[in-house]
Amino acid sequence: MKAVITTAYGSPEVFKLDQVAKPSPKANEVLVRIHASSVTKADSMMRTGKPYIGRLFLGLTKPKNPIWGSGFAGVVEAVGSEVKNFKKGDNVFGENINSFGTYAQYVAIPEDGVISHLPKSLSFEEAAGICDGGVTSLNFLQNIGHIHSGQKILINGGSGSLGTAAIQIAKYYGAHVTAVCSTANIELVRSLGADEVIDYTKTDFTQNKNSYDLIYDTVGARSFEECKQALTDNGCYASPVLGMPLIGQMIVTSLIGNKKAKFSATGSLPKEEIKRLLHILIDIIKAGHFVAPVDRSYNLEQVVEAHSYVDKGRKKGNVVLKPFALT
Ligand SMILES: NC(=O)c1ccc[n+]([C@@H]2O[C@H](COP(=O)([O-])OP(=O)(O)OC[C@H]3O[C@@H](n4cnc5c(N)ncnc54)[C@H](OP(=O)(O)O)[C@@H]3O)[C@@H](O)[C@H]2O)c1
Repeated sequence: MKAVITTAYGSPEVFKLDQVAKPSPKANEVLVRIHASSVTKADSMMRTGKPYIGRLFLGLTKPKNPIWGSGFAGVVEAVGSEVKNFKKGDNVFGENINSFGTYAQYVAIPEDGVISHLPKSLSFEEAAGICDGGVTSLNFLQNIGHIHSGQKILINGGSGSLGTAAIQIAKYYGAHVTAVCSTANIELVRSLGADEVIDYTKTDFTQNKNSYDLIYDTVGARSFEECKQALTDNGCYASPVLGMPLIGQMIVTSLIGNKKAKFSATGSLPKEEIKRLLHILIDIIKAGHFVAPVDRSYNLEQVVEAHSYVDKGRKKGNVVLKPFALT
């Protein structure tokens, strides 16, 4: 099969297309013919091997898993002898959280891993990015933000993968949503249900004093210190982008003050929790309250272009690779 091989950390040029053996499913595994795999901002950060602490998990001097990629959607090609819930021909999607391998035509996933049947309303391209944007934002909104009806939430980076998902999830739970984006993305975030939209090129939301119960800064563009005055009395600033300032602010706010700074690494949650979040999201999708915008699709041969685009930090929703697309 065709696969993208990675033998070093660095720029997108570290990726090389190659032929490798097609995986054979073990007794407990499902072999998936991949129609779409996600190319995420997290993938591009991991590719660089920075911050260096990530290498403790990914491989100290080079990636220990030569085939990159974790989000996938496709069709079951074969199942192992012990698999009960999936059969050949099923449409599935999910996230290979620990061993990656989805920048390829086939991947073998344990049946008890993060894999689920594809809701009818979703295309493969849409489904591939759901675990990155959707599950991450649901984790932040539910487990950190304790989302509820009437809560005033500001979502910074409303047009990205996490932001587009967060707007819809927050609206589903009845929150009042203010989304922050640039002029070009106003229509997109409005179409996803944002009650109010702030164009960050014209207005600085941090000046809106005492306005938001939760500021979810999906792109880590503003710090807790900057956002503090815009939070309500017991408000919380949460961001999926970890840096030294956020670590310091988390420590300080855990000890003093009513306003908190928080982070979570969704991929390192227990598998059962990721599956719980995914199943909630599937219910939201089936109820017709969630779409996953796809900005661009690339074939495997274009993986360098795909990563170069994601590196720019300007994508709208998700970017996918299509391993069976013809060049
Ligand atoms: N901790 C976790 O569990 C976890 C999980 C997944 C991802 N992540 C991280 O979450 C971050 C966000 O991922 P993502 O995929 O959503 O990002 P993304 O899709 O790359 O975000 C790009 C979007 O952000 C907007 N943007 C850029 N700068 C902005 C600014 N200053 N203010 C407001 N919007 C801005 C861009 O719109 P414009 O071009 O119009 O500005 C673009 O639409 C990444 O750093 C990723 O590594 C963390």
